Amino acid sequence: MEMPIAFKVKELSQILDVSTPAVSQRLKNTTDELLKSDKNRTVGIPRETISKILTENGHKYFYRKNIILAHTIVGGSAKTSAIWSLFNGFLRISSKQNPLIICSSDSQASIDDIALGKIPSADQQRVLVDYFNEQATLDDILIPLDKTENTWIIPSHLNNVFLDKALQSPKKIKGEALRLIQDIYKKFPNTNPSIFIDTMPALSASTGSFILAMAQLMNEYSPEEYNPVVCIPLRSDSTSLKGCQIAFDELNTIIETFGVDKKPTVKVFLANYDKRLSLSSEILKSLFGDPVLKDYVADTIIRTSAEIPKTSYANKSVFHDKLTSVGSDYNDLLLEILGYEKQGANG
Ligand SMILES: Nc1ncnc2c1ncn2[C@@H]1O[C@H](COP(=O)(O)OP(=O)(O)O)[C@@H](O)[C@H]1O
Ligand SMILES: [Mg+2]
Repeated sequence: MEMPIAFKVKELSQILDVSTPAVSQRLKNTTDELLKSDKNRTVGIPRETISKILTENGHKYFYRKNIILAHTIVGGSAKTSAIWSLFNGFLRISSKQNPLIICSSDSQASIDDIALGKIPSADQQRVLVDYFNEQATLDDILIPLDKTENTWIIPSHLNNVFLDKALQSPKKIKGEALRLIQDIYKKFPNTNPSIFIDTMPALSASTGSFILAMAQLMNEYSPEEYNPVVCIPLRSDSTSLKGCQIAFDELNTIIETFGVDKKPTVKVFLANYDKRLSLSSEILKSLFGDPVLKDYVADTIIRTSAEIPKTSYANKSVFHDKLTSVGSDYNDLLLEILGYEKQGANG
């Protein structure tokens, strides 16, 4: 896959909350790799350099074992777009020492289509259903996107419609996604893999299994080591709020039913906000008016932008070619998911 563009000085200055000239001044003294223009101006900060700078400046927590899962029961809610955008956003700021893994569990395989430019053939590629049925190992289902960048994908195809059949007993639901993630941690020892999980729009056992795994791992790793986040994207229409409420209830039910005592962080966000549409603002209002969901609403709103379908169609993201406004929204959301708090927020 093609790499997204390098991080900008302006973006770094926003995270560090210092002026752009001050950041440029600091970069003058660095011996780390920078992308320079003909006039010797810094035009981009490669991922190794930016991850080092952020680590040294109090943002080491970005590089925990992150698991980011997108979930709602409504199709066309931007789950895939969100996971793809967050993956590419994180790719720009993380070191290649830590693997980045997309896990595709939707049999529609739309993220495969974007990331690989094709949906793998069912005769040739083993997928999650084979792993959950214990007919494939992690190495069979995990394929490199880009070996030198340490990016990977667990692809999907239509055979994953049987994913829930592979998870019919409670024991399987509680254990299988957990086994997968632990296998990933074993395969990449002494690193912090970040896993981005795209799910199907349904009340499914597989999504439940992933959420349970994310919750159970909270008993194994401390918050300094591990960051599990369930994102619930909302599209601007009348059914999406109901869908969000159902998705949220289901998340709580599965965790309680299985007697797990911890819950991943939840971020509900508007995934295609159009301020010209009154429906968009109405949804936002009802979200803040919802007695339960209001506590989980993200600070970031994702704007409607033709760049999302356009870039996906070209197997790229909103961080490729140029910095788009919707890219900057997704970057803000990513930072929020990673635990970043804006200066002056909450205080
Ligand atoms: N912010 C946005 N602005 C415009 N179109 C969007 C936005 N987010 C998603 N889309 C488009 O909406 C459609 C559904 O998004 P997708 O991510 O495939 O949803 P899901 O995975 O929930 O089914 C896609 O065509 C996608 O390009
Ligand atoms: Mg999808």
